[in-house]
Amino acid sequence: MTTSFEDQLAQIFVEENEIPEIYRLSQEIHQREYLCNGEMKQWNGKVHEVYSPVCIRTDQGLQRKLIGTYPVCSEIEAFEALDAAVTAYDSGRGKWPTMSVADRIACVEKFAGKMREQKEIVVKLIMWEIGKSYLDSVKEFDRTLEYIFATIDALKDVDRDSSRFTIEQGIAAQIRRSPLGVVLCMGPFNYPLNETFTTLIPAIIMGNTLLFKPPKHGTLLHYPLLEAFKDSFPKGVVNTIYGRGNVIIPGLMKSGKINVLTLIGSSKVANELKKLHPKVNRLRAILGLDAKNAAIITAKADIQLAVQETVLGSLSFNGQRCTALKIVFVQKEIADEFVRELCSEVNKLKFGMPWEKGVSLTPLPEPNKPAYLKECIEDAIANGAHVMNEHGGAVLESFVYPAVLFPVNNTMKLYREEQFGPLIPVVPFNELEETIEYLIESPHGQQVSIFSNDQYELASLIDPLVNQVSRVNVNCQCQRGPDVFPFTGRKDSAEGTLSVVDALRSFSIRSLVAAKLTESNKQLINDIVNGQESNFLSTKFIF
Ligand code: G3H
Repeated sequence: MTTSFEDQLAQIFVEENEIPEIYRLSQEIHQREYLCNGEMKQWNGKVHEVYSPVCIRTDQGLQRKLIGTYPVCSEIEAFEALDAAVTAYDSGRGKWPTMSVADRIACVEKFAGKMREQKEIVVKLIMWEIGKSYLDSVKEFDRTLEYIFATIDALKDVDRDSSRFTIEQGIAAQIRRSPLGVVLCMGPFNYPLNETFTTLIPAIIMGNTLLFKPPKHGTLLHYPLLEAFKDSFPKGVVNTIYGRGNVIIPGLMKSGKINVLTLIGSSKVANELKKLHPKVNRLRAILGLDAKNAAIITAKADIQLAVQETVLGSLSFNGQRCTALKIVFVQKEIADEFVRELCSEVNKLKFGMPWEKGVSLTPLPEPNKPAYLKECIEDAIANGAHVMNEHGGAVLESFVYPAVLFPVNNTMKLYREEQFGPLIPVVPFNELEETIEYLIESPHGQQVSIFSNDQYELASLIDPLVNQVSRVNVNCQCQRGPDVFPFTGRKDSAEGTLSVVDALRSFSIRSLVAAKLTESNKQLINDIVNGQESNFLSTKFIF
């Protein structure tokens, strides 16, 4: 007997005792401590209750499952953490910023080993806190560890290149990368571990000290790693801050003691925070911000391939990726066929609980998201679009079934707003120029995907588009990886560049020691190097 969609949707959430044993949290996690100045400090104040996007069927109806609580600290604790980071940096004279690169690498390796021991619980917490499928949660953890080891290898390379003198015009110089100071690091909820660590790890390894605020959804998963931070780094190098961002962050920025702001979040928040710093030129910002990546599918594209990539690009993790395809332009001649095929593929996707095998669509962590997505759908319909796939936009509590909307036009919210959810707006177009104009006018400039099998057509899109966005994907979806590729954006999409190597550059500045090559200077430099008196002026080679 086949079950109807309505039955399937009604059954999507299960009763407590139906959760498979291996995916359960053995207990709720009530965090009452935070890491500051090398100590796990006790917290007896207000706490935030963490409710999973996964609901449980109970006699009282569907209820989001409580998985734990974490501290809601105040500005007082945030400033304690700031003082700890400032003291540990000690104007660049602290133990950590002056430590040899080899010794800093050893600390990060120790941390990675301890992090690996926490894999099981961290993976489960990713799944429970943000509703990411179990498999993708495992991938996120593994990708993060790989990123750490790749960062270590990249830094070894950088250091090897710096372990020599450059001689020009009678001047000898040793050129290295030095830290910048105190870094305020805030990650996003959609990749709460991975994206946070792609800034946090390079920031630390380059000798900076850190204030780390975990994302609102995706905080508890960092708790099992706090001991690892405490045991692996000198005190004050990594400090955690908890609490409402709008309460604890402005004061930190106004203090002028933050040297680097790294945030993966909205451009609005980034703009506001940057402006609070009293010495704007002393602040470096490394930001991953809004994006509205477009797919441009021409009449000369392989429709099947374009459909497959659009599904992946717009619906992986329910469309909650900064790199997700958030608007799809299709040339009119093939628009009907494309939309038909797209709907048929969307409707094949399995929806359900994050632990189910083969599941693609899962509940959403942001409590207001279903209502916002509904509003976008209604707005599109009111302005002439239709929901093209059966059941598109159906909602049950935190779960939203994907909707393909067509034909979308410039009067609709979905034309410009970053939906960050499972809605696929499809815009029909006549001339390629219309799509280029869209990207020129867009406030975003992260990536684009172009689909065509015609070399001339592709080339005519590539040349204008590389100057609008920072990555043009040919016949495939947008994505960040491989992690060695530069990840950045133009306009309101990013500031600074991340990649394994670029991140090391972003969180450091070149500094050099230079001397005229007189006999006495040669002797002095040799004495310092041979006596291993300096960690900077040194020709030690890391193997
Ligand atoms: O949310 C943005 C992520 O960096 C996207 O990474 O393209 O590998 O999923 P991804």
